[in-house]
Amino acid sequence: MKHLLGIEALTRAEILTLLSEAKNVGAMTRAAKRELLRGSVMVSMFFEPSTRTRLSFETAALQLGCGVTGFSDAQNTSATKGESLEDTVRMCAAYGDALILRHPLLGAAHRAAAVSNVPVINAGDGAGEHPTQTLVDLYTMQQRLGDLDGLRVGLAGDLCNGRTVHSLLLALAKFRNIKVSCFSPTPALALPESQRRHATLHGIDIDDADSLATLAQRVDVLYMTRVQTERISGSEPFDAVAKLEHYVLRAKDLAGAAPNMCVMHPLPRVREIATDVDALPHAAYFEQAGNAVSVRQALLLQLLR
Ligand code: CP
Repeated sequence: MKHLLGIEALTRAEILTLLSEAKNVGAMTRAAKRELLRGSVMVSMFFEPSTRTRLSFETAALQLGCGVTGFSDAQNTSATKGESLEDTVRMCAAYGDALILRHPLLGAAHRAAAVSNVPVINAGDGAGEHPTQTLVDLYTMQQRLGDLDGLRVGLAGDLCNGRTVHSLLLALAKFRNIKVSCFSPTPALALPESQRRHATLHGIDIDDADSLATLAQRVDVLYMTRVQTERISGSEPFDAVAKLEHYVLRAKDLAGAAPNMCVMHPLPRVREIATDVDALPHAAYFEQAGNAVSVRQALLLQLLR
């Protein structure tokens, strides 16, 4: 693997190897890890806000002894003077050994890879993909539930604009006997037909649920997402959607769920998971965010060692 731009580029075997490496690196002591990437430099290029992705990548690198440079706000870069994405990438590639790129434009990571002589990792490109989030999601499912084959997964929220859902669905298509049930708070946020078709063509049994409580009863994983208002022009009507009662998962909705069913969310959550879910054993979302360090370490080791 030279770059990681989309989850489609990874085979099932490559995904499972990365997850296994993440488990191994997660079990290592800090002392054992800190020489593994000594002398390397990772560049964080965040043209869009981030808490988890940037900080977990930087933590992952620092624990491996890898230096970190970059920016978390493109307003402080020469992009404000009109420098193109390609030229910014060329410069960062001259200074670092791997580029972690988040950008609001779909396809930005592919543009970056076309001019970079060091690995580019897509940390989210508009409504496109977020492949490392998917690796974190699959790792969390594996840790919680074991085998990834045979999973029943509920996808809820903004299935139209949420890039984490798009990457996750592409990855699930690489596993066997997957069932997916979808719930969107409004038809405008439903899973695009092209993605539904792709999932079906790849053997995923896909249907719809009429409420979060119904979904919770029929799945092993309930994957919640927020409305991606920053990607929707004229998003005011969707601010109202975000406040709809039937789009808020509450502890009472999980009464009929299997004991080991897990609620996941790439975060940040806004209103769609009530805080009374946090204390339940089903709540896996903070653990999921924590797993990001080991998973991103496995990826950095594979790309930089
Ligand atoms: N899950 C995720 O991508 O979170 P951030 O936007 O905070 O990086």
